[in-house]
Amino acid sequence: MRTDTGQVFRLEDYRPSDYLIPRTELDFRLGQDSTRVVAKLAIERRADVDKPVRLELDGDGLQLRRIEIDGAQLPEDAFEATPDSLVIHNPPASGRFTLLIETELAPSRNEALMGLYRSSKVYCTQCEAEGFRRITYFLDRPDILSVYTVRIEAERAEAPLLLSNGNPVEHGDLGQGWHYAVWHDPFPKPSYLFALVAGDLGCIKDRFVTASGKDVELGIYVEHGKENQAGYAMDALRRSMKWDEDVFGCEYDLDVFNIVAVSDFNMGAMENKGLNIFNDKYVLADEETATDGDFANIEAIIAHEYFHNWTGNRITCRDWFQLCLKEGLTVFRDHEFSADERSRPVKRIAEVRTLRAHQFPEDQGPLAHPVRPRRYREINNFYTATVYEKGSEVVRMIRTVLGAELFRGGMDLYFERHDGDAATIEDFLKVFEDVSGKDLSQFALWYHQAGTPNLSVSTSHNSGSGEFTIEIEQSVPPTPSESRKRLMHIPLAFGLVGADGKDMAYAAVEGATVDNGVIHVRKRKHVVTFSGIAERPVLSLNRGFSAPVTLTVEQRPDDLMFLASHDSDPFSRWQAFNTLLTDATIAAFKSSLGGKQQTFSPGLVTLAGRIAGTDGLEHAFRALALTLPGEADIAREIGKNIDPDAIHAGREALARAIAAANGEIFSQLYEGLRSNGAFSPDAASAGRRALRNTLLDYLAILPGGEKRAAEHFATATNMTDRAAALAILAHRHGGSEETKKALAEFDKRYRSDPLVMDKWFMIQATAPGASAVDAVRALMEHPAFSIANPNRVRSLIGGFASANQTGFHRADGAGYAFFAETVLAVEKRNPQVAARLATAMRSWRSLEPKRQAKARAALVSIQAKDGLSADLRDIIDRTLA
Ligand code: TRP
Ligand code: ZN
Repeated sequence: MRTDTGQVFRLEDYRPSDYLIPRTELDFRLGQDSTRVVAKLAIERRADVDKPVRLELDGDGLQLRRIEIDGAQLPEDAFEATPDSLVIHNPPASGRFTLLIETELAPSRNEALMGLYRSSKVYCTQCEAEGFRRITYFLDRPDILSVYTVRIEAERAEAPLLLSNGNPVEHGDLGQGWHYAVWHDPFPKPSYLFALVAGDLGCIKDRFVTASGKDVELGIYVEHGKENQAGYAMDALRRSMKWDEDVFGCEYDLDVFNIVAVSDFNMGAMENKGLNIFNDKYVLADEETATDGDFANIEAIIAHEYFHNWTGNRITCRDWFQLCLKEGLTVFRDHEFSADERSRPVKRIAEVRTLRAHQFPEDQGPLAHPVRPRRYREINNFYTATVYEKGSEVVRMIRTVLGAELFRGGMDLYFERHDGDAATIEDFLKVFEDVSGKDLSQFALWYHQAGTPNLSVSTSHNSGSGEFTIEIEQSVPPTPSESRKRLMHIPLAFGLVGADGKDMAYAAVEGATVDNGVIHVRKRKHVVTFSGIAERPVLSLNRGFSAPVTLTVEQRPDDLMFLASHDSDPFSRWQAFNTLLTDATIAAFKSSLGGKQQTFSPGLVTLAGRIAGTDGLEHAFRALALTLPGEADIAREIGKNIDPDAIHAGREALARAIAAANGEIFSQLYEGLRSNGAFSPDAASAGRRALRNTLLDYLAILPGGEKRAAEHFATATNMTDRAAALAILAHRHGGSEETKKALAEFDKRYRSDPLVMDKWFMIQATAPGASAVDAVRALMEHPAFSIANPNRVRSLIGGFASANQTGFHRADGAGYAFFAETVLAVEKRNPQVAARLATAMRSWRSLEPKRQAKARAALVSIQAKDGLSADLRDIIDRTLA
């Protein structure tokens, strides 16, 4: 494990490397305990470096076995090799030479899952961000682009399959049970995109003919026996390839495209050129084992990694500060893909919920950072919701500011101008300035300034003059190391909704800040006046969530009720109802703190029933509308002095009130939504199941609810319904016989399928109440659990810490103590996963004082440990700062 060196990397320190590596040849001789890697690097001093300089290569825990320059062994005093670096004091004065480096690795002992490691008997690699330096010494930075030729030798019995990036060149037999394969990738790429897979895997194949007629062979490799669970991923891949041609004009560029699913993986998936490697959770699916949510995630992540082929691979990042250049843009592209493939409004609501659940708390807590950070200690900790999700929102805003056509023009120019480059955010913004003639310098603050802007909004209507005025005041809260903020350019889509529910035409507009249904806020105080407005309209603001901001609007409940029923923008319609539900829950929370019971507005409760039964609304939309804001969402709205038990009580009270008032309607709808045919994972069918399961969640509160949920569980014909029923039982009827029986049955049926068991772990880890800590501790002893596997850890430990407010934040601090101990146990093997887990503590300062003190003590207990990894130390130090 690499312990912390305390080194800080800064954006302003960037300078190009003195040396380049135009060509890289790698020879692997694979063995579990000893793998030999011979790297032959064609090295060239950069043209504008005019005198000889030393060459320093990155390493991480390497053992050097041989070193030669231009075929001659290098004398001992000519270089200095440590596990973490290789310095060549006086490279040949010509500045052009071939450096041969042989290293020896032990893949079987690599539990950090970075570099070359073994996952379920398969050799595989993960090099982003800085894993390549665990394979060989290299200029392991994204602006060093090299053409790779890779030769892999392995025992045929152990590894009949030998894959790397690019196109297959040759393969053959070596005698004595060994064989080899050679791969060549003609596209220069940074080392983080290198990949190798070797093992014994099953596979499904397909073909795709590109727009210009290139025939591409597609392969998805999975554990033997799971081939029949890879069909959906293959279908998603083919649809992604077609979509990227149609919508962005991006064609695939190699003869083959391979995807490999592995069961031990630190993140979701990795876009290695021509050889994507996936967490098997995002490949394997059938109705028996995967939920509709899993299908949607697979589709999105397959698309995401595929889309990186242009946004990430053909055009990569100059340095890791530019991570959002590839990630924010590629998330935007996968969001658009899912919106086109499924329901655009439903997708948008889901995106915003995710952004608020993950990015807002990050932006509002100690780990806040700009979409393009200026400094980091450990780059692995910057694969964040801010870089990915807010990064995507920023690209979406560029499209809003420019309009769809100019946006596409800018993207075309980006591909044309920067193909083959390691680019920057400045390069990206420049193409949009160039195609539009617009000045995006104020807009660029979205990349440079952390924090969620707040807009305070008030309106007035003068019926005498027929004027309607909107006053908007912007503020950006201070964030770590940025106390003073500059004013931002915030594009706010809006509508003025008339009494008939239709958008009013607005005639004259004062100032030039309104364009195509969008108000462009740029100043601190912004006033827009519309004339010719005879009756008072209801303002629908931030339609489609055009800007990732919070709004403070003085809006009457009547207006929100009106928008929830009539707004023509489905996102805003959902938002209006969600705001009403949030406000009601907060009122109930306050009552609960005061030991009182809350009564809810009958109008609100009735509206829930009406939305549930509105035929004109998609099932999935209705399901999202009826889903109460989560306990963490409510905590975020309240902001400080959080008592999770009181929030839970308030939220439950609202759920009960809605269920009690709508039992009859919900029950009828529930019966009517029963499946009437074979399973299909399409969006419409998934929406129907989502609504039915949301209704069940309410019905389960009513008398006899556990019987109904148990019956739903027993008669389920797919995992979506089975898992939903199990969660409802475990969360609403914890100790009941029905729940015990269902949990045992599920365990028995799926014990040998780890991905399905993750759902079982997660459901129990998120069961509300003080007993969750002990339950989770006990589940760590379950035979299906393994602390070495990131998916198991994220389901059980991550589920508990991030999605169980009452359990994790138990008043006596037992949740925090258990968590600290477990994070340290995970860190021993896998610092990256431990650090990510630890971010669950990021909102500790918003807790009420007693819990806050206990949370802090747990964080300090981690901080006090000697020899912490750079990953974990970075997160803990920033969280406590
Ligand atoms: N680039 C990957 C993506 O598509 C992210 C990723 C995968 C990653 N594995 C990783 C990042 C390991 C850091 C470490 O989003
Ligand atoms: Zn990505």
